Amino acid sequence: MSQAEFVVVANRLPVDRVADAEGDDAWRRSPGGLVTALEPVMRKADGAWVGWAGRPGLELEPFEFDGMHLVPVPLSADEVQDYYEGFSNDTIWPLYHDVIAAPRFKRQWWDAYVAVNQRFADAAAKAAADNAIVWVQDYQLQLVPRMLRQARPDLTIGYFHHIPFPAYGLYSQLPWRRQVLEGLLGADVIGFQRVADAGNFARAVRRQLRYETKASGIAVPDGEGGTRTALAKAFPISIDADSYIELAQRPEIQARAAEIRESLGNPSKILLGVDRLDYTKGIRHRMKAFGELLQDGRVSVDDVTLVQVASPSRERVDAYVQLRDEIELTVGRINGDYDTMGHTAIRYLHQAYPREEMVALYLAADVMLVTALRDGMNLVAKEYVASRVDNRGVLVLSEFAGAADELGSAILVNPHDIDGLKDAIMRAIEMPGSEQGRRMRALRRRVREHDVEDWSQDFLDALAVFHRGATAVTA
Ligand code: G6P
Repeated sequence: MSQAEFVVVANRLPVDRVADAEGDDAWRRSPGGLVTALEPVMRKADGAWVGWAGRPGLELEPFEFDGMHLVPVPLSADEVQDYYEGFSNDTIWPLYHDVIAAPRFKRQWWDAYVAVNQRFADAAAKAAADNAIVWVQDYQLQLVPRMLRQARPDLTIGYFHHIPFPAYGLYSQLPWRRQVLEGLLGADVIGFQRVADAGNFARAVRRQLRYETKASGIAVPDGEGGTRTALAKAFPISIDADSYIELAQRPEIQARAAEIRESLGNPSKILLGVDRLDYTKGIRHRMKAFGELLQDGRVSVDDVTLVQVASPSRERVDAYVQLRDEIELTVGRINGDYDTMGHTAIRYLHQAYPREEMVALYLAADVMLVTALRDGMNLVAKEYVASRVDNRGVLVLSEFAGAADELGSAILVNPHDIDGLKDAIMRAIEMPGSEQGRRMRALRRRVREHDVEDWSQDFLDALAVFHRGATAVTA
């Protein structure tokens, strides 16, 4: 493969390994929004995507898929444990989500994180043409920008952080806090979801490294006695809104939505939660509030059902194993207490569904509950809004999700305040159609005006200022 002018580096490749009809291994495009966002850029710039194929021990040569050059980075079983499950998802993930679960600091995990980040950086350096643009994604790869800059000072390097960046008081717990900041500062542009995340990062840089910051600029020593400017600012990510709108307009998907309502016994209101099964999502808080509403007699299972889709995630990390037990115990208790032969309180689905089915569910749901305790953005909130082509439905949205900065016409809640959450759910259930319409139109306008293509364009425009190469990359 020739070298690419544009390289994306992410923990995961944009494809999943699946069995085909004959039972052989095949590749399928993964459903994530990032692929959708970057695919047009990748095609135009003849780009490459460097990432892990999602299975331990898989050693593969670079290959072409769906018009993209994919460069697999292998991880051994031990590395999956130490770098992915350990440092990424049992140290950084809980620490950056306000220690909702206790982060574990293990030196062996850090060593694996350094080694694996170096492998990603090496693969990206090899894939990139002279003066190429490299865009590194997310918290699993925070050291890659600096490693890349050291190997390839000709490159223009962007980094986007999809999850929150915590307040300094929490961040400073990290034993490797300086190395991580220095790693990120290898990038020319460091993008965050919220203005507050960029602010937390700049403060950590000032306190730990004593670098000067001014507006979004950070003066980073260039190793030759001078400084260069790195840009740290908010670029809130979005979804491919048009594809949700298109799906929501299909008659067969609307029919499926009606069928879903029917199969739940045609309750007058359906509440919906859709999350990876993760302790940051506030699934327990949501269920506690709903359980109490049933107990108080403010709602009845004859009229109201909560559908909770909790897709399996990081199933070998202890905190996730525990969370699953707690959620399933709670669902069992609430259903045991309140179900009737014909109606269920909570329809719980520990499964992942294709996009078509999700859009049907969004159309079937009168109220969408996004009660995250901390969330970088929460794209489910945006997917729900985009899908409501009928301008009906109510979004209840945690102020601790990045989406709250843009979706002010939702009913905003503090999920820790159970009484407040109960009242918000009641307000959503009882909201008149005219008010639903007014709020939903405002929400939809925002999501349509700022879609994922816009996001990547804004980021790449900011990065273009640093570019020394001849060709511009446009989304
Ligand atoms: C979050 C992270 C992503 C990650 C995704 C799924 O959205 O920001 O980087 O890919 O969760 O988690 P997983 O561990 O399965 O990749």
